[in-house]
Amino acid sequence: MQKLLMTPGPTTIPEAVKLEMAKDIIHHRTEEYSEIFKELSENLKCVFKTKNPVITLTSSGTGAMEASVTNLFSKGEKVIVISVGNFGNRFIQLTKLHGLDVKEISYKWGESAKPEDLKKVLSEEEDVKGVFLTHHETSSGVLNDVSAFGKILEGTEILFVVDSISGILSNEFKTDEWRVDCAISGSQKGFMTPPGLAFVSLSNRAQEAMKKSDMPNFYFSFAKHLDRLAEGQNPTTPAITLIFAANVACQLIKKEGIDNVLKRHKKLQILTALGIEALGLEFFVKNSEDRGSTLTSVIAPKGIDGQEVNKLMQEEGVTIAGGQADYKGKIFRIGHLGDVNELDVIVTFSVLEKVLYKLNYREFEIGASLKAIQEYLIKNI
Ligand SMILES: Cc1ncc(COP(=O)(O)O)c(C=O)c1O
Repeated sequence: MQKLLMTPGPTTIPEAVKLEMAKDIIHHRTEEYSEIFKELSENLKCVFKTKNPVITLTSSGTGAMEASVTNLFSKGEKVIVISVGNFGNRFIQLTKLHGLDVKEISYKWGESAKPEDLKKVLSEEEDVKGVFLTHHETSSGVLNDVSAFGKILEGTEILFVVDSISGILSNEFKTDEWRVDCAISGSQKGFMTPPGLAFVSLSNRAQEAMKKSDMPNFYFSFAKHLDRLAEGQNPTTPAITLIFAANVACQLIKKEGIDNVLKRHKKLQILTALGIEALGLEFFVKNSEDRGSTLTSVIAPKGIDGQEVNKLMQEEGVTIAGGQADYKGKIFRIGHLGDVNELDVIVTFSVLEKVLYKLNYREFEIGASLKAIQEYLIKNI
């Protein structure tokens, strides 16, 4: 049975990317490798909307999150970590683990971060060296207004570190314009490539901070990666196959056009929301403006275990994601990022209706979600 992956990562891999990975491996200390790695590095700058270098680590996203702490800061330095869920909490754990003096600004899951709260903490705290923020919080589907936080940091030397692991390419992200010093992403989400690569942009301010950091780094040393970047090389053996795959994925993204990629994701978000409303289900993120185009999180109907919805959907060939931490079983998350299109959303709702019906949630007319989606599609041809 053909399987449909509607999760917020890993995402479906396009045919051209899969075929690239089927090719013979080549040696990385060669011109051939360097040319492709240079092309990927330039493509990443384009996706990140930055003129600064973007390095590629052979690691999942968390490796880059940890490396941003150990490369850009020194023990005891004061930082503010803004958390709206599981992945913001990961930054809290990492900054504390590495001995930073951490001021937390945390929100209830499902709510977005408020720029005025950062302003307040900055007015109370002296000598803050960094601010950490999650662009799109995958555990809840909340999208933070990175630009508004960046504006607050204008005119300061405070480093702005942003996790856009699941945000970039399904939501607008402008590294330089939004004053982001270190933006982090991963291969397995909007980049439509298997897990295993992390991408990190580094502003001049971030590169200066690197020189002052007193924390040890070897494999994850940003300096070592930057040193080899211009010649199209990496300090150690890179995940060559994934790098080539990510480059093909970037070519596809450029061919579609980044703006069109963003528009497609917005449309998929709208279709998903229409389907959810038509089924009488409740969104986990109450304020529609706080929802991103990466995924839609839905509260499991009363008496129904969200994990059961996932399990039955998976049996029907559509994989969605469950809730995390305290929300396990209470919500389910429909991913709509990467190589996903309108038909995939339609299939997802067809299966979701069937599964809900099976679980005795029947407060909708059969086909209601499909009708709502179809009406939108026909009215917006
Ligand atoms: C927003 C966000 N941050 C961090 C991570 C962690 O990335 P990884 O699992 O690639 O280490 C994820 C992964 O789901 C994520 O969505």
